[in-house]
Amino acid sequence: MRYFGTQRLIWLVAAAMFSFALPATTAFAQTDKAEGEEAAAPKKAKKKKKRDPGQKLYMRRTCVACHGRNGIGAIQDYPNVAAQPEKYIIRQVNDIIDGKRSAGPDETGNPRTEGMRGALVTSAGERRITKDEVKQIAAWLAKQPPAPPLTPEEPIDPARLEQGAADYKKGKCHTCHGPDGRKPKSKLYPIIAGQKAAYIVAQMTDIRDGVRKNAQSKLMKPFLKKIDDDMIGRIADYLSQIDRTQD
Ligand code: HEC
Ligand code: HEC
Repeated sequence: MRYFGTQRLIWLVAAAMFSFALPATTAFAQTDKAEGEEAAAPKKAKKKKKRDPGQKLYMRRTCVACHGRNGIGAIQDYPNVAAQPEKYIIRQVNDIIDGKRSAGPDETGNPRTEGMRGALVTSAGERRITKDEVKQIAAWLAKQPPAPPLTPEEPIDPARLEQGAADYKKGKCHTCHGPDGRKPKSKLYPIIAGQKAAYIVAQMTDIRDGVRKNAQSKLMKPFLKKIDDDMIGRIADYLSQIDRTQD
């Protein structure tokens, strides 16, 4: 009896514990699940919107202020930097930071590269951005969609665009930059189709006059000897109106 009693008691206690524990565990499991679900939902949403590390750095290192949200901006003599070859971007950014790439003066009289350099180098001459960060930004920028052509302030006469296309061929530009400036021969060369006209004029002039002489510029310089300012203007207008979004 006693034995039975004890055993029963044990059973009762066990059953009570079990019945008590069961809903408790279930409830606990449910809360857990509910919390888990709640926690998982925003996590998932965040994951969807999660920014590429290169894009984050592009925002944090202030590139966005001058080059626009996705590497496309409205300022005429600031380049669009989206959809350029990754290696070209890396080289140019580092050259600007290191002071190897210079440019003609802006309206304040300083080289046009100084604003960017000032944003990325401390007054003591130290980089605010590592080489690895430049690589990450370049990888992201290279994958962004290209800019649509910027509408010129005044419509360009179609005859001028045709002349620009002829000048482009005559100047042998296609031998390095590809037909219409769309397909450079090397990953270290820029895509010049659809770039802003004022920026193209500035770069062609700077390379011709030996102001910009970094990286591979010396390869192009001899081709500019016979190219005067008028021809540069026509080529720039022509290239600026090529629509890379249709490629
Ligand atoms: C204060 C404005 C400013 C900031 C900030 C800035 N840039 Fe620039 N960037 C310019 C200007 C202006 C030029 C063109 C200089 C010239 O005319 O030679 C340029 C040139 C470039 C070029 C060369 C484009 C080409 O086609 O050769 C690249 C690439 C570039 N910037 C990327 C960046 C990245 C990446 C960052 C951030 C880490 C950045 N820039 C920050 C203004 C800026
Ligand atoms: C022998 C090859 C070669 C030829 C020919 C050549 N280029 Fe280039 N071009 C280059 C290279 C390489 C660069 C990049 C220089 C650097 O590494 O900094 C460049 C840069 C440029 C840039 C600056 C782009 C930017 O994003 O900053 C423009 C604009 C340009 N070329 C236009 C032309 C035009 C127009 C012609 C014809 C008159 C021409 N090029 C002929 C090789 C060439």
